[in-house]
Amino acid sequence: MFSPILTSLGSLAAFVQYSNAASAIPWAAPGEGPTTQTANYTGFSNSTLNDQNVVPGASFSRFIQIWFENTNFAVASSTPAFQKLAAQGVTFSRYMAVTHPSEPNYVASLSGSHWGMGDDNFYHIPRNISTVIDLLEEKGISWATYQENMPSTGYYGYNWASVNYNDPTQAPYDYYQRKHNPPIIHDSVVFYPERSHRIRSFNDFANDIVNGTLPQWMFITPNMVNDAHDTTIDFAGKFTDYWLNPLLEDERFNNEETLILVTFDENETYDIQNQIFSVAVGGSIPDELKGTSDNTFYTHYSTLSTVQANWDLRTLGRQDANKTVSNVFSWVANEVGYQNQDIADEDIPQFNLTKVHDGPLNSLRYTPFYAPDVSMQGASGCGVFVSPELDLTFTADEVPPAVNLTAQGSQSPWILPQNTTTLPVY
Ligand SMILES: *[C@@H]1O[C@H](CO)[C@@H](O)[C@H](O)[C@H]1NC(C)=O
Ligand SMILES: *[C@@H]1O[C@H](CO)[C@@H](O)[C@H](O)[C@H]1NC(C)=O
Ligand SMILES: *[C@@H]1O[C@H](CO)[C@@H](O)[C@H](O)[C@H]1NC(C)=O
Ligand SMILES: *[C@@H]1O[C@H](CO)[C@@H](O)[C@H](O)[C@H]1NC(C)=O
Ligand SMILES: *[C@@H]1O[C@H](CO)[C@@H](O)[C@H](O)[C@H]1NC(C)=O
Ligand SMILES: *[C@@H]1O[C@H](CO)[C@@H](O)[C@H](O)[C@H]1NC(C)=O
Ligand SMILES: *[C@@H]1O[C@H](CO)[C@@H](O)[C@H](O)[C@H]1NC(C)=O
Ligand SMILES: *[C@@H]1O[C@H](CO)[C@@H](O)[C@H](O)[C@H]1NC(C)=O
Ligand SMILES: *[C@@H]1O[C@H](CO)[C@@H](O)[C@H](O)[C@H]1NC(C)=O
Repeated sequence: MFSPILTSLGSLAAFVQYSNAASAIPWAAPGEGPTTQTANYTGFSNSTLNDQNVVPGASFSRFIQIWFENTNFAVASSTPAFQKLAAQGVTFSRYMAVTHPSEPNYVASLSGSHWGMGDDNFYHIPRNISTVIDLLEEKGISWATYQENMPSTGYYGYNWASVNYNDPTQAPYDYYQRKHNPPIIHDSVVFYPERSHRIRSFNDFANDIVNGTLPQWMFITPNMVNDAHDTTIDFAGKFTDYWLNPLLEDERFNNEETLILVTFDENETYDIQNQIFSVAVGGSIPDELKGTSDNTFYTHYSTLSTVQANWDLRTLGRQDANKTVSNVFSWVANEVGYQNQDIADEDIPQFNLTKVHDGPLNSLRYTPFYAPDVSMQGASGCGVFVSPELDLTFTADEVPPAVNLTAQGSQSPWILPQNTTTLPVY
């Protein structure tokens, strides 16, 4: 078996080979289809989920988000594959990512903050920091993430290169990156085996759908070529044709209670607002809205507030409870009687800023992790979920002024070496 270090060198070679012509990577199907396991992914599935209960929600009983990468709204919305999705669903025309680059956006979608992060380092977030997974589990709602080309269930490493199925004459390709896998970054998930077992590969996905055990909340990350990161939007469109379109016709994935969000992590250009293309599809969307667009102002935090409103969950008490940046998807808001905020373009915060926010994952302006304001109320009207290990007396008021650790020759204590493959001990 390759060590992660050797494989990342192999993939560096692949990257150098292709870097001047990203679109030169030929598209290829990794397998026979989304419901069949393939040796082009590293490990075959060894386990299956066993979730019995389906907890009904006000608007949907299954939420699936699928994240693509770094693409212009105008480009995505003029690509046939994405137009095809738009015709079946609701296009969100004022949906913003929350910062740059990738990793803080993925993290924000799970724990309701980017924590000041402004790069793609090997971060881990301590056990006392809650995520949407705590909120879901409190109500018995099952969940999983499915990561294409992650080599094994709950794999902890920074990246993974596997056989280059796009071009077998090339070295193994770095298809999997930890920075696009938000549950793995949160210790409140990975420290517990019954949770890390839900950080799954696409072979596990094929196993779970065939076994009828797909969970109610899913976060899906295509690999580094299929998500357009190393390629183009047309390449990603071939992936949606191969993977998503058959699943939209498959009752085991999409039925009248399903909501699927196809979104992008961030806008490609840093010096303008961070608008991204997002489209909602799936059987739970009211028929009269299919093929329309919705100009409500949304952000990645809206994925948290929307599931909270739908399933009557508590809030994390972070930006998911900040009403000005977390509007609930409009038809869901209508169904639960939630009042969204009407935000004019000029009042949308600058989401293109990076590394300017104080926080535990910003080495330039470091502060410790502090407790949320427990008096906040989320979109469901419920209060804040409090992690058992959280020191509730350590609030924003108690936090010392931010420190520039970089100037002291050090960095955030929540960064691990890139060659880490096992959980940190603390
Ligand atoms: C891997 O993918 C390539 C390209 O689509 C295909 O030719 C090959 O048959 C696949 N291998 C397996 C084991 O499925
Ligand atoms: C269901 O899951 C089990 C355990 O992973 C596996 O052995 C079995 O092949 C799966 N069933 C199908 C139909 O894939
Ligand atoms: C970024 O967002 C702006 C709107 O703020 C949009 O005009 C542009 O197409 C988006 N994408 C890129 C790559 O600029
Ligand atoms: C299944 O187990 C084998 C042996 O431990 C491992 O190599 C493989 O990666 C596992 N597959 C998954 C999807 O975890
Ligand atoms: C962020 O975008 C605004 C336009 O919306 C622009 O005026 C500003 O310069 C950008 N900020 C950075 C740091 O590029
Ligand atoms: C809510 O978001 C706005 C816009 O980013 C920000 O100005 C405000 O400080 C936030 N409020 C809280 C409590 O975080
Ligand atoms: C959360 O845990 C980390 C790591 O143990 C600690 O540094 C931090 O102070 C804790 N914060 C709160 C509010 O409990
Ligand atoms: C922190 O220190 C670094 C290195 O000395 C410097 O480049 C940077 O501008 C400082 N940042 C802040 C916010 O003080
Ligand atoms: C990780 O790399 C560092 C050097 O950056 C080295 O000292 C350490 O032994 C390596 N650890 C592992 C587990 O390979």
